[in-house]
Parts: sequence; structure tokens; C-alpha cells
Amino acid sequence: MAKVNENYNKLPGSYLFSTIAKKLAAYQEAHPEKNMIKMGIGDVTRPLVTAVVEAMHKAVDEMGTAEGFRGYGPEQGYDFLRNKIVEKDYAGLGIEADEIFVSDGAKSDCGNIGDIFDLDNKVAVCDPVYPVYVDTNAMAGRAGEYIGGHWSNLYYMPCLAENGFMPELPKEKVDIIYLCFPNNPTGVAATREQLKPWIEYAKQNGSVILYDSAYEAFITNPEVPHSIYELEGAKEVAIEFRSFSKTAGFTGTRCAYTVVPKSLVINGTALNALWNRRQCTKFNGVPYIIQRGAEAVYSDEGMKQTRENIKYYLENAKIIRDGLTAAGLTVYGGENAPYIWAKTPDGMGSWEFFDKLLEEANVVTTPGEGFGPSGEGYIRLTAFSTKENTIEAMERIKKVLG
Ligand code: MLT
Repeated sequence: MAKVNENYNKLPGSYLFSTIAKKLAAYQEAHPEKNMIKMGIGDVTRPLVTAVVEAMHKAVDEMGTAEGFRGYGPEQGYDFLRNKIVEKDYAGLGIEADEIFVSDGAKSDCGNIGDIFDLDNKVAVCDPVYPVYVDTNAMAGRAGEYIGGHWSNLYYMPCLAENGFMPELPKEKVDIIYLCFPNNPTGVAATREQLKPWIEYAKQNGSVILYDSAYEAFITNPEVPHSIYELEGAKEVAIEFRSFSKTAGFTGTRCAYTVVPKSLVINGTALNALWNRRQCTKFNGVPYIIQRGAEAVYSDEGMKQTRENIKYYLENAKIIRDGLTAAGLTVYGGENAPYIWAKTPDGMGSWEFFDKLLEEANVVTTPGEGFGPSGEGYIRLTAFSTKENTIEAMERIKKVLG
């Protein structure tokens, strides 16, 4: 008889954002007249910029000609995009094109990267955390048992107001460390000084840092590095994930990339070679048309236009910070990230506050507890709505809390 992967049966409930989508759908069905404002899942609303759209159109036309048609592309991504990424995102950092692996998303890469690691690795995650890191390790059987809101084999690094939402170095030896800065969900960003000890720790303990940098485009503070490779020694210990989703509005078109430096070698094995092997076997590359669109993000026009969108979202973030503060809430993040992390009022539970805002303000947020036990007592809002909806949402929340 076939046997299922029992690890899936250990997972609590459904994926966080599916749960929220279901709750919203149920509420909307019962109250079709309500105009809901979505500030839950971090999905963009600004359209693709002109430079990207034009490049994609051109690529579609090419594909319709005998000379320009392309079938399977290289699993690692086309050279034109890999070279552009190296030139524009890693100038002066010594990253080479064959260390870049273009993919359909940082979410998939963060989840799939576990394929190249043994099950017998101690994994450290921040708490609260982007649920993909935890759930995919649980699916693989690396997380142990789910008991009282915690996975028995994971090492949790609480990120609380008391430590400025910065994880502390593990007090025991861990093998794999997920770090995400600017952070999802808290919206805080780590400076070079704050990241340095992590490189040291990884070197001393032979650990690998999985650095999720999907929100680097939102960095405004010059002390915050855009890439982990700005830190000396990082190429020997870290893998970096980047995405065009939030940077250039590719959540629907899908394009991202992962950097696996060749100098990252564990016990004589280069992780670059393993990831390459994994991708060649399980992945057939991102569509040519999409990669041409991603390449256009780096053109002068593309850069200018995408920067304008980022500015727009950062202005929304400020509206949210100011609005929630005026409503009497304590807020964090939103200055180098599209996420605002807010303390619930009067010690209210995060799901309770989520429901209150859903039903009374008709604003969808994300309950902090969905990101881990230390997220209890917080909610997350995204700055990815339209400006009009962001302003309206703040008015409604002020009224509800006023
Ligand atoms: C989020 O809301 O945390 C993100 O949109 C999820 C994702 O990027 O997969």
C-alpha cells in the first residue's frame, strides 16, 4: 500500500495566507455589501512598469518568429539576465553569473533549498517568521513534532520589542539559520554591524545562513546592507534569496533568483553544484518572456519607474505608521520595509484583533500569531494597497479604536 508523507499530517491547519483568504471569503459571502480593504498578504497593486511591459511584448513577438522562438531555456536562467543581475545588484561584491540561479520565486527557493540539506540538521528560525521556512522543514521531517505551538526540533530565536525584533545568536550549535532582512513580518532591518556576528557564528560552527533579501528594494537606511555579501566572509557561509515580486511587481508573473556562491563548501561539497543539480532535475527555468521583463527592470527607464513604485509603497507605509500611531497603537517597521508590525490594544489576542478589524473596519490584516508564538499580541499590515485605500483604512481603524 502506498504511504503518504506523514510529516504533512503533523502540520497545523492550512497555510497562513490560505486561512486568511478563506476567512475573508466567508465574511464577504455573508456581507457582500461591504467594501473590504486588503492589507493582509503582501501582494502588490501597482501595475508592471512600462519598461517591463514593452520588453515582454517584444519577447512575445520574438517567440512568434522562427528565428526568435525558444523552447526549454537554461534551468539556471538566461545569461542576459544572470549577467545583468551580477552587474547591477552585485557590483563590486565578487559574485559571478554562474552563482545566480533564476527561479519562479523566493518562496519556492526558500522552500526547495531544503532538498540539498540532510534531514539531520538543526535549523534556527526567527520567531515570528515567514511561515514557509518552518512549514517546509516540517514537511521534510526536519522540524520534529508540533507541540504547544512549537516544533520540537527547531531552534526558535524570539524577536520581541525588548530586543528590537533582532534575533540573538543561538546559545547552542545550530546548522542552518534562516534570516530575513528587511524582515517579514516585523518590517525591521538589520545593519551591517548587527549582521557581522552572524557571519562569525556561522564560520565558527560550520553553519549555513539562508538569507532572504526579498525586500531589499525598500531599504532607505544606508547602514542596512542590500546584500549579505556586503559583509566580509559571507560568501563562505551564506545563500541569498532575492525576488522581482515586491521590487518590480512580479508577484503574478513570477521571477526571482538565488545566489549560491561557489566558495560555500560543506564537508568538501560545493552547495552551488548541489543546487545546480537540483534545479536541473526539478525545474525547467523561468519563461523567456518573463526573464526579458526582469532584465528590463535594470534598464535606466526600468530602474526609474520601479523606484517610483517603491516610493509609492513607502509613502503608504508612512501613512500606516502615522495612522496607527494616531489610533493609539505602538508600531514598528515600515521604514525600510513594506510591512508594519503593530501591537494589539489592551493585550488583545492577535486573531481577536484581526477579527475586530475585519468585521468592524472591514480591513484585512495578518494576525501576528500566524507567524509564530512570539507574534501573539501583534498584527501585520502591508503597504501594498493603493494610496486611497491606505488612507481610508486608517480612517476606519481610527474610528473603530477611537
Ligand atoms: C507575505 O505576505 O508574507 C508575502 O506576500 C508572502 C510571500 O511573498 O509569499
